[in-house]
Amino acid sequence: MRRDNDRMDHDVIQELIQTAINMMNYSYAPYSRFHVGAALLTENGSVYTGCNVENASYSVTNCAERTAFFKAVSEGVREFRAICIVGGRDKIIQDYAAPCGVCRQVMMEFCDAEAFQIILAKSVDEYQIFTLKELLPMGFGAANLG
Ligand code: THU
Repeated sequence: MRRDNDRMDHDVIQELIQTAINMMNYSYAPYSRFHVGAALLTENGSVYTGCNVENASYSVTNCAERTAFFKAVSEGVREFRAICIVGGRDKIIQDYAAPCGVCRQVMMEFCDAEAFQIILAKSVDEYQIFTLKELLPMGFGAANLG
């Protein structure tokens, strides 16, 4: 488990951002043309990648963040430190791409909300970092089931 005073190394952050940017190239988004890439950093330092995968039946679409989480969890990995997310129409990043509510809830399932870091980036030099708790205050999780 991370300590609260664990700061993410700037080089690690920039590598995650570059990986997420590269993942936009695999994004399958013929309907929205909004391409999203994600890079999920595990507790042991490995990185799982993800992109959004759309479908003609729109609601079947899987977001980039959930792709990354499901790849990791399906391989037995359940401890995470951070995720970087980038996105833009026609792969041009114009703004920060914040995770949708469904993806925040998936993060809530597997992450410590006070420690998990969500890195939103416009480039390797322009980014903001939030904890999951900041983006999902009073989130509902396993602890609420008693
Ligand atoms: N999208 C993501 O991949 N992650 C999010 O958190 C927000 C939305 C994708 C889904 C869809 O393919 C496109 O962005 C437009 O909503």
